[in-house]
Amino acid sequence: MLEWLKQPGFFGTHATLGADISQLMATLFTGLFIIGWMQARRRQADAHHWLMLGGMVTMLVFFTNYYLFRQLGVLAVEGKEGFGGSQALYDHVFIPLLTLHILLVIIGLVMAVYMIVLGFRAQAFEQGKRRLGDVTLLTSWGKIGKIFGGITAVILLLFASRVASAGFSSRKLMVYLGLLLLIAIVFSVEITIQRIWPNAERRHRVLGRFTMIIYCVLFVTGSVTYTMLYILYPGKIG
Ligand code: HEM
Repeated sequence: MLEWLKQPGFFGTHATLGADISQLMATLFTGLFIIGWMQARRRQADAHHWLMLGGMVTMLVFFTNYYLFRQLGVLAVEGKEGFGGSQALYDHVFIPLLTLHILLVIIGLVMAVYMIVLGFRAQAFEQGKRRLGDVTLLTSWGKIGKIFGGITAVILLLFASRVASAGFSSRKLMVYLGLLLLIAIVFSVEITIQRIWPNAERRHRVLGRFTMIIYCVLFVTGSVTYTMLYILYPGKIG
């Protein structure tokens, strides 16, 4: 399967099949989310709910599986071996762009989960019609502690089962600790966000727009990376 993904892609560039599948899916998901955004702006709340919920869950399942399967960091490795441009271009354009892209990927994945939860928490029904609730949505410290404790327990269980089946490695420990740290950061940022936009409707609209901007920039940085790597400056690969 890994070998299969390494054969030439279908866009006719220097990219592998794996890179083309990834680019195609990124284009489809970005298009889908922009449609979902337009639905929200047109107050088609029900259609927006189903499209965003279905789209985001599918995207999360696809990309996490896909990148875990292709082994994390493959993009950076391919970049190093496959970039055929000058060293200056590599150092001052390609690497900063790739770093920004990966950073946005992490923020984008976190925001996908966050927005789904916020969508459910913020929605209200008026005569059977879905809309955002004009209510204050504040989570107490006690509740946050309980949720974070629960997530920590699940992550520890996952870690323990991975160690039992595949053995301990300090890299694995770092990955799981990193995940816990990321979740802790998300919770503390969320506390701040709650203070700034306590109103459910306002928070969903503001953070929804922020998420959509992240996805658009994500798509642009990803496409420029693809263009540099597989069209403008192809290297050894392809
Ligand atoms: C997962 C990613 C999501 C994103 C990025 C997102 C984004 C947005 C944005 C930007 C708006 C405001 C549109 C505007 O005024 O410009 C909005 C409105 C809304 N969203 Fe979401 N949303 C998401 C998920 C959800 C989910 C899962 C639900 C329901 C559970 C939901 C329910 C709503 C509702 C009811 C509105 C109000 C629409 C109206 O004004 O009638 N959203 N969303």
